[in-house]
Amino acid sequence: MKVLGVILFLLCSLAAQSFITPKERGEMLYRMAESTACAACHGDAAEGKPLGSYDTRRGKKTIVAPALINMSGEAIKSGLKNHNFGPPFYLSDEEIAALSAWLNRND
Ligand code: HEC
Repeated sequence: MKVLGVILFLLCSLAAQSFITPKERGEMLYRMAESTACAACHGDAAEGKPLGSYDTRRGKKTIVAPALINMSGEAIKSGLKNHNFGPPFYLSDEEIAALSAWLNRND
């Protein structure tokens, strides 16, 4: 019975803690291959990257996924609203805040 009490106590105190920080959650969202996949286009560290180019009558045009480093939640929100690439992303305010926390990580 005593052992059961200890186990219960440990489980409760674990559940009371948050397992990951908003920054870590933001990084997960940023890299999540099966849904958001921001990393695939915007680069592993959100440094931005060219995705490809094509010829036009006025010369070569290159499509670039811009750097997202230090972007605020508001900027991410409006950027995603006008996003022309990838599927529409349905991110909650909490998820956008987490993404922004990771993008503002300064490493
Ligand atoms: C399929 C490739 C692709 C994926 C996946 C993608 N992006 Fe983009 N993103 C782009 C390209 C290309 C642009 C620039 C042209 C445009 O705005 O559509 C862009 C623009 C943006 C902008 C505007 C940046 C600015 O300087 O105005 C933001 C913000 C942004 N993306 C955030 C995200 C986030 C957050 C994710 C993940 C949820 C994501 N993107 C996933 C390709 C992608």
